[in-house]
Amino acid sequence: MSKRRVIIFDTTLRDGEQAPGFSMNTEEKIQLALQIERLGVDVMEAGFPISSPGDFEAVTKVAQIIKNAGVAGLCRANEKDISVGWDALKHAVRPRIHTFIATSDIHLQHKLKKSREEALEIAVNAVKFARNLCDDVEFSAEDALRSDVDFLCQVTEAVIAAGASTVNLPDTVGYTMPFEIDKVISTVLNRVPNIDKARISVHCHNDLGLAVANSLMSVNAGASQVECTINGIGERAGNCSLEEVVMGLNVRKDLFEDIEIGVKTDEIYRASRMLTSITGVGVQPNKAIVGKNAFAHEAGIHQDGMLKNRTTYEIMTPESVGYPSTSLVLGKHSGRHAFIQRIEALGFELEKDAVQSAFEEFKVLADKKKEVFDEDIESIILNQSKDTTVAYTMETVNILSGDTTIPTATVKLADSEGNVSIDASTGDGPVDAVMKAIERIAGIAGRLKSYQIKALTAGKDAQGEVVLAAEFDNAGYDVRGRGSDTDVVVASAKAYLDALNKYITRKQSKDVRNTEKGV
Ligand code: KIV
Ligand code: ZN
Repeated sequence: MSKRRVIIFDTTLRDGEQAPGFSMNTEEKIQLALQIERLGVDVMEAGFPISSPGDFEAVTKVAQIIKNAGVAGLCRANEKDISVGWDALKHAVRPRIHTFIATSDIHLQHKLKKSREEALEIAVNAVKFARNLCDDVEFSAEDALRSDVDFLCQVTEAVIAAGASTVNLPDTVGYTMPFEIDKVISTVLNRVPNIDKARISVHCHNDLGLAVANSLMSVNAGASQVECTINGIGERAGNCSLEEVVMGLNVRKDLFEDIEIGVKTDEIYRASRMLTSITGVGVQPNKAIVGKNAFAHEAGIHQDGMLKNRTTYEIMTPESVGYPSTSLVLGKHSGRHAFIQRIEALGFELEKDAVQSAFEEFKVLADKKKEVFDEDIESIILNQSKDTTVAYTMETVNILSGDTTIPTATVKLADSEGNVSIDASTGDGPVDAVMKAIERIAGIAGRLKSYQIKALTAGKDAQGEVVLAAEFDNAGYDVRGRGSDTDVVVASAKAYLDALNKYITRKQSKDVRNTEKGV
């Protein structure tokens, strides 16, 4: 039987990254893009090029580096967005322009203040313009699943006639039930006369926890592209989770026997873990496929069954998703070769200089800690991929604290021109003091919105990792910072400075997300 290929379109770097708390710098995006490529997705959406100079740079670099997957960039349906998007994408081996406009009456009336006829014309013109630049054009009818189905069919037919080879029908607000999406996809596939010239794609948000169910239902109804993200990250409750939809299609081959996908499932765990270490946002322990407990069998009855035959309680093996069976530990006697092997095993690719500085950092840590775990190595690697153009770098931090003294921190920072400033502050506690000292040097006031600290590994000598969100200058949005160190106050200082640097970069770059919420 000839199989029907379902395109896996990963939008972790665009819809995922757009969610609060998940922003990544260019270096981090490149590391993740390389892992997404190893995962074997057909297309990855690398960003929204016009949204900020940072996004433009990241899409350009990803387009230059990725050879074995298509690279898409999101553009609103206007010539300026599409031209800028194309400038970033044109270096790709397989570039794709992804343009969109809303089609639901709710969005047209309240957000765009446009009629259906106007939206249709804008959509067609945008696709025609994009097709003059690029052979592969995807059109998305934003909020498709709350759009009038007759109008949706009309738009689908018109954009295909204008040259779109993929028409994406997003459930933008995650409102739809599986039996409804089944009906919409079937209607579009049956009614649109030129449907044989394009793929129908779905892009389901998870507001009611139905994104994966809706995506699988759509594939069953004939959709041939699924848009999804690693760990299901994305706006609000997130997007369809890549690992869940892929393993759904894989484990239930008996139901999807005519379907073929290209994902290498044993790269899934590595991708999930890399995303977690980059963003500092973990998945819940009971998360399907990639959670800590996804393959743990606690109950006696279950353990007994597993010992007799694994299939009693296991529908897929941990190996099939790349779950590691043992965790390797390095120490101060480990050499450069073993260290490099571990970096590669974790899925990272570092330049020669970065390997050298990472190795030096590893040696310092191995002197402080007996055992260096994968989590420590990931944190060292991420220190190398910090933005090189940051406003401030940390030189030294000294803290005086205890139960009979006023907590006081002294901080020395260097700015991007190498000028060194030193200042001190007292605070309610050592963390408060260190953050105030940083603010005094930068001349920027901040408010801590969330603060989490965790030990990266077991053991009293473990590194502390701090992930925080802060708002600076009452800007109206939060930025995320991450830092790790064997001293938790130093880790807090690093995380706060990381957030402050991101705020300064974003302020200078006139990021459109500062004025427009999302797209
Ligand atoms: O959710 C959505 O509708 C989107 C589109 C821009 C594809 O992300
Ligand atoms: Zn979306």
